[in-house]
Order: sequence, then structure tokens, then C-alpha cells
Amino acid sequence: MAMAVLFVFGVTAILEADLCSDKKFSLLPPVNFTIRVTGLAQVLLSWEPNPDQEQRNANLEYRVKINAPQEDDYETKSTESKCVTILHKGFSASVQAILWNHPSPLESSWVSAELKAPPGSPGTSIVNLTCITNTVPSDDPYFRPYQVSLRCTWLVGEEAPEDTQYFFYYRYGSWTEECQEYSKDPLNRNIACWFPRTFISSKGREQLIVHVNGSSRQATIKPFDQLFALHSIDQVNPPKNITAVIDGTCLSIQWQKPISAFPTHCFEYEVKIYNTRKGYFQTEKMTANALTSITDDVSKYSVQVRAAVSSVCRTLGLWSEWSQPIYVGNDEQKPSTEWLLIVLMATLCFALLIFSLICRICHLWTKLFPPVPAPKSDIKDLFVSTNYEKTGSGETETEVVSYVEEPGFEILEDSVF
Ligand SMILES: *[C@@H]1O[C@H](CO)[C@@H](O)[C@H](O)[C@H]1NC(C)=O
Ligand SMILES: *[C@@H]1O[C@H](CO)[C@@H](O)[C@H](O)[C@H]1NC(C)=O
Ligand SMILES: *[C@@H]1O[C@H](CO)[C@@H](O)[C@H](O)[C@H]1NC(C)=O
Repeated sequence: MAMAVLFVFGVTAILEADLCSDKKFSLLPPVNFTIRVTGLAQVLLSWEPNPDQEQRNANLEYRVKINAPQEDDYETKSTESKCVTILHKGFSASVQAILWNHPSPLESSWVSAELKAPPGSPGTSIVNLTCITNTVPSDDPYFRPYQVSLRCTWLVGEEAPEDTQYFFYYRYGSWTEECQEYSKDPLNRNIACWFPRTFISSKGREQLIVHVNGSSRQATIKPFDQLFALHSIDQVNPPKNITAVIDGTCLSIQWQKPISAFPTHCFEYEVKIYNTRKGYFQTEKMTANALTSITDDVSKYSVQVRAAVSSVCRTLGLWSEWSQPIYVGNDEQKPSTEWLLIVLMATLCFALLIFSLICRICHLWTKLFPPVPAPKSDIKDLFVSTNYEKTGSGETETEVVSYVEEPGFEILEDSVF
């Protein structure tokens, strides 16, 4: 071991000594740089060290730069590199040799290679591709307890002729499969695909690659690639065997983990309790498989639970659907004193209202409390003229008596002429 370390050290030292002594020394670029498609959305970059490089290249490394479709760069000691990326926009990369030399590293010039984008107008490709995976119990539980189904849908490209047909493929790891169960649009073009079982691993961390190409007699159909992270398209199943029991004021809810290859500790849950009488929701988030809630009144409750694989086991993904609601409790109400009071008040108000209405209509008020009878006649502004003839006298006396009745009291005016 010590010998080996010494040897490597020695080689490095010799190389460095050579480089320092020879001012004209330069690192030559790799040769035979090729890009080869080795699978759906997968290429293998390979190159050879330059045979004209005189120096022993114990410390030689390579820097790889991906220029398209997405910029990236990394270093490697190997002379090949695998790259997973969409290929329908073409692919181009460069590589250079580097030597970690003291004090500054030596770099060769770059060599580049590219894959041309496949022919066809971008408008002929499919659009709006969405995929969903779901875990189901396997047909053969001894070999493999769970399997994963896949469903993808897309829309026909705007420029795709009517006779276009699309073909759907997925790749997971080294497995590639073509779709066998398509759904079609009215023009018989494939617009969705269903795989009841796939080679996708439930707990896998690799990306799912989807490739959709097509054919038409009128136009070249451009293929389309998309990469999916499994956690972002995995439709988790809802929890199983949910039970809810009310005991006094205690609502106890229990459930089991969903059908999934992930073990129990990988799940988090959300419980939704709906009070049907008061009409409000209560939502609780937890990692346990049971919940006890205090109910403060007699009511009917609907309980639903949903699940997600927590970040303990995988990047947080989608919530499952809510489970079917289960109902507990009884919404027949005991008449409470509160209600009785309200009803009583309402009845009272109503009775008063009716009474006052009748009063108005029948002038009952006036009848009940008639005005104080006037000491004189009811006729207002009565003028009484009386002529007196005094016998034995040639003169005539006229007496005018006038009554003026005013509200509340009466004034008697007597005028004697
Ligand atoms: C580069 O490729 C050519 C032709 O394919 C081959 O003859 C040559 O040996 C290769 N060079 C190296 C260093 O592998
Ligand atoms: C398709 O996707 C585009 C943008 O990604 C969006 O604007 C459009 O509404 C989608 N079409 C349908 C029918 O979903
Ligand atoms: C579509 O892609 C598959 C897989 O790469 C290939 O075998 C097939 O020939 C392609 N079909 C068309 C019409 O391009």
C-alpha cells in the first residue's frame, strides 16, 4: 500500500517536473468524441485520450459541458458518460481534458459533437402531456406484492394533419414498453394510454421517461420527450378500513395505511371532520393512524381521511383523494331551553303585532277610551239667535248666543246686544 502511494506520488512529481521544465507543453484535446442514443431520452458520450499526448496521463480528467437542450457541466475521470435528457430539441456537448497541475490546472481545447433535432415542425408534436401512476396489489404477490399502473393523456398538436397517428413509449431504467391500450379522439388519433401494469418501481427514485412519436402521410411528425419525477405523478391511494365511533363526547377515528409499497412510518394523513348540524369543517394533520376528537354537542359527523408519502421516505408528492365519507352520530336534537326561549319570544312578538293591527282597523282604541262627553251639544260653531219680543214695548231686543267648541275645552261666549 505504502509502495503504491509512493509510486503514484512519484509519477505525479515526475509529470509536474516535466510540465514545469517544458514551457511549450500543452494538453491535447480528447479524440473520437461521439454521442450515441442508447435509449429513450438517453445518450452515451464517449471519447478517447489523445494518442499524441506524450505525457503519462495518470491524473488526466475530463470536463464535460452539455450545451443543449439544457446547460450543464461536470468532471469525470472516465472516458464515457451517460446523460438522460429530452432529445426532441437536439443535443450538443463538448469535452476537454484537464490536468490538476500545481499551481494552476492545465486545460486542453474543447471538442464538440451534436445530435440534430429530429425532423418535423414543432406544431405536429403532442401537447399538454400529463401522466399519473398508481400502486395496485399485484397478481402475483409472492413474486412482487405491488405493481404500478400508468395513465397518460395528451392533446393532438395544432399542426398535426387529420391522418396523424401517435405512438406512446415509456422507459423506466432499462425497461422500455410501447402502449397497448390507447384511447382515441373522434378522428381515431391516439390521445391517451393506459398501462395496467408497468416496470416502474413503486419506491423507485429514477425518472420516468416518456416518448411520443407519430406518423402521417402529409407531414413529418416531430417526436416529443418528457421526464417525470415519480413522486410528482404518483397518485397515492386513500387510507384503508376507516372506522369512526362516538362514545359520549369522544369521537374516535382509526384507519390503516393505503395500498402502497411504502411502510407504515412513511405516511402522513389529513383528517376532515364535518359537523353536519353546525356546518363547519375541522381538519387535522398527523402521522399517527388514529385520532380522538371531543364533540361538544349531539350532531351527525362525516369523516374523511387522505394520505401522502411523507418527506421521511421520499420527496413530498401529491395527496391521495379523500376517502369515501363515513357518518357517525345522530342529528335528532333534544329541544334545548335556548330554542324554547326563542320560540316563546317570537310568539309573543307575533301576538302583539296582530293585536296592534286589530286595534288600528277597528278603532278599538277609541271605543275602549271614548272622549269625555261635552256638556253641550256636539254641533260645533252653533249660533243660536233668539228674538225676544217684550210686550208693552215698541223696541226690539235681539240676543245672540254663540258657542264656540274648541278641542279639550269649551268656551261659552255670550253676546247680548
Ligand atoms: C478513433 O476512431 C478511428 C476510426 O473510427 C479509429 O481508427 C481510431 O483508432 C480511434 N482512435 C482512438 C484513440 O480510439
Ligand atoms: C395546454 O397547456 C397550455 C400551456 O401549457 C395551456 O395554456 C392550455 O390551456 C392547455 N390546454 C388544455 C386544453 O388543457
Ligand atoms: C417511435 O419511437 C420508437 C422507439 O424509439 C421507434 O421504435 C419507432 O420506430 C418510432 N416510430 C416512428 C413512427 O418514428
